[in-house]
Amino acid sequence: MICLGNICRSPLAQGVMESLCKANHLDWQIDSAGTASWHAGNPPDPRSIKIARNKGLDITAQRARQLQKADLDKYDLLLVMDQENYNNVLKMCHNDAQKSKVQLILNYAYPNENRAVPDPYYDDSFDHVYELLVKSCSQLLVSHQ
Ligand code: 4NP
Repeated sequence: MICLGNICRSPLAQGVMESLCKANHLDWQIDSAGTASWHAGNPPDPRSIKIARNKGLDITAQRARQLQKADLDKYDLLLVMDQENYNNVLKMCHNDAQKSKVQLILNYAYPNENRAVPDPYYDDSFDHVYELLVKSCSQLLVSHQ
């Protein structure tokens, strides 16, 4: 799960996906990262922690980190929140195998629409972001079972 700062959207996406995997007895390895390093080492934004907690998820143990080149090989899917993340991750890719793993996460909920998970950092739209992530993560689960 990849966003810009790794403190708002992708930690929440990680929490949602981990919870869905647990409920479905899947041992997928879920992680998150940011394309930027500004918040490396920090816990998720308090507003992400709060919405997660309201939905029964504990994301407080997560710490932000910047996406590394090794991640591009390590993971089967590199799910990005918006077009800016998409472009930045694609620039890090060395080959087509890596490039093909990069997907806009909302294309699972809204196929081929290339919609973005809006950045809630400034507009506080954490409820909306949560709903979008649940919709996409649920669809991701269905499409890979
Ligand atoms: P995120 O949100 O990419 O969903 O973690 C942001 C977090 C921090 C900043 C921007 C977006 N920032 O400008 O510091």
